Amino acid sequence: MDLGIKDRVAIVTGAGRGIGRQICLTLGEEGVRVAINDIREEGANAVADEIKKAGGQAIGVVADVTNQDQVSDMVKRVLDEWDQVDILVNNAGIPVLQSSQDVMAAAGTFFTQTERPQWDRTMQLITYGVLFCTRAVLDTMMERRWGRILSIISDAGRVGEPRLVPYSMAKAGVVGFTKALAKEVGRYCITANCVSPGTTETEATKAWLQAQGEQIMRGYPLAKGLERLGQPSDIANAVAFLVSQRAEWITGQVLSVNGGYAMPD
Ligand SMILES: NC(=O)c1ccc[n+]([C@@H]2O[C@H](COP(=O)([O-])OP(=O)(O)OC[C@H]3O[C@@H](n4cnc5c(N)ncnc54)[C@H](O)[C@@H]3O)[C@@H](O)[C@H]2O)c1
Repeated sequence: MDLGIKDRVAIVTGAGRGIGRQICLTLGEEGVRVAINDIREEGANAVADEIKKAGGQAIGVVADVTNQDQVSDMVKRVLDEWDQVDILVNNAGIPVLQSSQDVMAAAGTFFTQTERPQWDRTMQLITYGVLFCTRAVLDTMMERRWGRILSIISDAGRVGEPRLVPYSMAKAGVVGFTKALAKEVGRYCITANCVSPGTTETEATKAWLQAQGEQIMRGYPLAKGLERLGQPSDIANAVAFLVSQRAEWITGQVLSVNGGYAMPD
């Protein structure tokens, strides 16, 4: 099936590795011109090189999505390059953690956490990151009367995940944001949707699973549904459809891509 998005321009945030990287590669295969955002330059440029080597068009755009000025500069850079932004994938959602202690602290129980800076990092990235990036691309989408805002949330935000309490809270907030936005911008042929992954094998989860060890693996409800962890391609395929021309009448929705381990309403 031709997704009908050849030559569209996409910005994918937090895309130097993991799920975001695979979203970029998949969109690149569909002929989308892709701006790969990451706070880390190396990752963004490496993914851009991968797409270019495969014959696609891509640029790396470094910015911290929690910094509104940097986000404005990033969007300006993409507009200078390609004159339009049609697709935004708000994928950045896990703060950069430096050590396994950081990972453990971030994934501790809420009743052992008292560290406001850790909560701030999570809230800033998941809520303000999405607000800043979305606001920055709306004008060009409204002018061209076509747009896709796709935010990656998490099943933690749909069904709740112990040890990820502030993260679950912030991701649930993105659902409210998406539904309200969908109602405002539909008249401009802009859709807003969420993809909600279950546990997916990426660098971030590898560190988390290693730090938690046996305990989390035993406790994790993997023996349900399709009985495997997700792969970035599972998530990227769903994203590619929802940002495509084929999904033009789907808006304000949340699609869990989780192998069936949770089945939220
Ligand atoms: N992996 C999973 O199991 C899983 C499950 C549910 C939801 N998700 C969601 O999927 C998305 C991607 O997850 P992942 O596992 O690929 O993460 P990851 O940590 O492997 O990759 C995320 C990328 O985001 C970048 N980043 C971090 N802070 C940034 C910032 N302020 N500005 C720009 N870039 C920034 C990092 O440098 C990194 O390259 C996140 O929103 C996450 O919450 C992941």
